[in-house]
Order: sequence, then C-alpha cells, then structure tokens
Amino acid sequence: MVSPDEFRRVLSHFATGVTIVTTRDTDGRPTGLTVSAFCSVSLDPPQVLVCVDHKSQSYPALRDRDRFAVNFLGERHEDVSRRFATTRLDKFDGVPHKLSSHGVPLLEGALAQLECRTVSRHVEGDHTILVALVDEARNGAGEPLLYFRGKYRRLADTPSGASS
Ligand SMILES: Cc1cc2nc3c(=O)[nH]c(=O)nc-3n(C[C@H](O)[C@H](O)[C@H](O)COP(=O)(O)O)c2cc1C
Repeated sequence: MVSPDEFRRVLSHFATGVTIVTTRDTDGRPTGLTVSAFCSVSLDPPQVLVCVDHKSQSYPALRDRDRFAVNFLGERHEDVSRRFATTRLDKFDGVPHKLSSHGVPLLEGALAQLECRTVSRHVEGDHTILVALVDEARNGAGEPLLYFRGKYRRLADTPSGASS
C-alpha cells in the first residue's frame, strides 16, 4: 500500500485549479473550505462532484444541507484560498460575499460560480464524494489561480487559438 504521505506527494504533481466550496451550517452561518477535488460529471444534466474530508469543519454542513456553491478562484485570490484552507469560524469576515437566491454564499470576484444541489453522497475512505446538479452557472473575467506541487501558481502563457 502507498502511505498517505507518499500518496499526497505524488498527487501534488497533478496541477489543478482552486475552488472555495461554500454553504451554510444548521445555524445559518456561512461555512466553506478550499477544494481542488472538483470535477465535472455530466453535461446533460449538468452535474459536478466535489470530495470533502470527513475531518473538515465544513463537512457536517455539506453532509446535512443539499445546497452549496463552487467558487472558482482567480489569480488574485491566493489569500482567500489560504484563509479557507484553515479551520476557523471567521473565514468570511472581510471576504466580500452575498447570499444567492438559494441561500448559499457566493464570493465576489470569483472567476466563475456554480450553484449546486446535492443529488447523491458517496462515502469513500476518509472523504465523501458529493454529486450535485448545477442550477446556476456564471463566469466572471480574469485568469485562474492554480495549485501544483504544494505551491500556488499562475498561468505563464496565453493560449493560442483556444476557444473560451
Ligand atoms: C489547494 C488546496 C486544495 C484542497 N483541496 C481539498 C479538497 O479537495 N477536499 C478537502 O476536503 N480538503 C481540501 N483541502 C484542505 C481543506 O481546505 C482544509 O482542510 C480546510 O482547513 C478545511 O476547512 P474546515 O475544517 O473549516 O472545513 C485543500 C487545501 C488546499 C490548500
């Protein structure tokens, strides 16, 4: 078996974008965490998945509530990613956000946002995979924040002939 530390080290060679998954807890307080384990699942119907560690403070809210948002971070949001990658109760203080019509916190200035409704949960090892339908999807402008080998990165080049 591969040890958790070795597995984490090897996985860090897979470059990802960075998202903040947000919801509200049973007291109605905004909660959320930094997530790179995000993936599109289906185009029709529009579905995505996120994987959440059972040890995270945000997990009970994501387990018990069926609404969450996925906020894709832009290159200026490294501080937001660091903030939401810690366990603390005041994560949203000083981070501009508003509640969507579905009651989930949306971070202002995100590169894109998906508003999601959980349709199934799959416990696998120490994480739960949340599969969700996307009710609303919108994108802003800018370049993405990336994560590779334990460090935040930015795009170094401009794509040629790529469609948006
Ligand atoms: C770049 C990055 C990606 C992360 N991706 C995930 C992830 O996909 N799933 C997860 O459960 N935790 C992920 N984490 C760790 C959580 O953000 C971290 O454990 C956080 O403290 C959880 O906050 P909470 O305990 O307040 O919920 C990631 C952290 C970083 C820095």
